Amino acid sequence: MYLLGLRKSGWYKISFRLGILLILVACTQKEHQQEVQEFIPMGKNSYDNYCKGCHGDDGTLGLMNATNLQTITLDSLSISRVILHGKGNMQGFSGKIHEEEIGNIIQYLSELNLKKN
Ligand code: HEC
Repeated sequence: MYLLGLRKSGWYKISFRLGILLILVACTQKEHQQEVQEFIPMGKNSYDNYCKGCHGDDGTLGLMNATNLQTITLDSLSISRVILHGKGNMQGFSGKIHEEEIGNIIQYLSELNLKKN
């Protein structure tokens, strides 16, 4: 009886811990999703201010040979470099756009990127 009781409470503890862990994981993922969802509209706002002129509403305008932003395969770091330092006909925005805004723009670009599918 004693042994059985111990075993039971042991299992109980483990499944309890597992349960907590699963809830934690679920919560952080949900929070992350919500954060991303909040940053995308801010990113769109900055994108409209600084990028839309050449790249257009949906990233495909291509003014002055601007790259189609729906088909780029650059990682975030490379994109932030292009935004900061420019490339070809695109001037850099270093000192003009705040770092946080750049992060938001990159989030928004990943949304645009999804549109091609
Ligand atoms: C004056 C017009 C203009 C503006 C404004 C502009 N771009 Fe560009 N962008 C270009 C051109 C032109 C290119 C192509 C550069 C090249 O490859 O020579 C380009 C290329 C890019 C690329 C691809 C770079 C690569 O290595 O393939 C990204 C990403 C990009 N722009 C993002 C942005 C973002 C984000 C903004 C706003 C913060 C922005 N651009 C504003 C004209 C512009």
